[in-house]
Amino acid sequence: MSETAKADTPGTGRAARVAPTLDGVSRTLLIPLLARAEAQRLWPGSAFDDAAARALAAKLAIDRAELGSDPFPMRLCLSRSLAIEEALGAFLREPIERTLVLLACGLDTLPVRLDASLDPARRARVRRWVCADLPPVMALRDQLLPASERIRHVRAALPDQLDEVAAALDETRPVFILEGVLPYLDAEQVAGCLAALGRLAPAGADLLVDGYHPALLAFSRLGNTFRRMRTRFRFAIADPRDYVEMAPRIRFRAQRNLLPPLPWHHRKRTLLPSLAAGGKPLATLAQLELTPSADQSFAEPLGVFP
Ligand SMILES: C[S@@+](CC[C@H](N)C(=O)[O-])C[C@H]1O[C@@H](n2cnc3c(N)ncnc32)[C@H](O)[C@@H]1O
Repeated sequence: MSETAKADTPGTGRAARVAPTLDGVSRTLLIPLLARAEAQRLWPGSAFDDAAARALAAKLAIDRAELGSDPFPMRLCLSRSLAIEEALGAFLREPIERTLVLLACGLDTLPVRLDASLDPARRARVRRWVCADLPPVMALRDQLLPASERIRHVRAALPDQLDEVAAALDETRPVFILEGVLPYLDAEQVAGCLAALGRLAPAGADLLVDGYHPALLAFSRLGNTFRRMRTRFRFAIADPRDYVEMAPRIRFRAQRNLLPPLPWHHRKRTLLPSLAAGGKPLATLAQLELTPSADQSFAEPLGVFP
């Protein structure tokens, strides 16, 4: 747990909370956080509701001008968050306990949101959450979304500084969730990351990974958000089946196209990139499997997406 969360109050001898600071923290994590906090404005009528994100966003001094005003990336974040919740809900139908590992977790409130949406039987199958990100982000998270016996906080740097993640795993088959981080890595780092996860899970694991077609990322500066933040995307994937070529033991199980759930008038922006992509999905959530390393392949589980 970070020591930055508390400081002594002079003269009182009591610990006082320090105002949360975004110093040293990637501003990109504010996009999904604000999307979740403002879901009803961005996508009226959607099933998405996140009181924890609203409370969290209210505590931070967020400079909106720095983030631009483009609602498209935020709406896409909501679609992928819904898809991840649905996929995890499907995994938890299987009557085995799972440890859910949120890599590059930022200030994602998924553990709270999922807990609220699951029935008691599925909630009981979550052995624990492991939330991991770079040290400055975890220091902020420690302060704002405290860890608990059920939710462990660890520091990790992708692709392969994952020792604390390894130490937090148990004998259950992990689900690794990588949401909104791979575009910031290069292809070699993404391959390194998949290989490193394989080493963490010799008996196998499931993976949920969002991916973006090069055509979508090429047009990402149409809106002012990524322009203003000077974001440079590095990794794009035209077909999530190609993950299997990137590292050993990866199998492709299923994918969900993240754009169709958004109302058409919220995704008009994608017309041109769609043409450039020849109709391939522009934004996907892929379900991958890490097969057991000694290849004692047991019965093939089906993908969780319909
Ligand atoms: C766009 S944010 C997504 C955060 C979170 N997954 C969510 O959906 O709210 C990207 C996150 O990736 C983290 N990140 C970037 N590079 C990383 C690396 N090499 N290792 C671990 N985390 C990284 C950032 O600190 C940030 O929290």
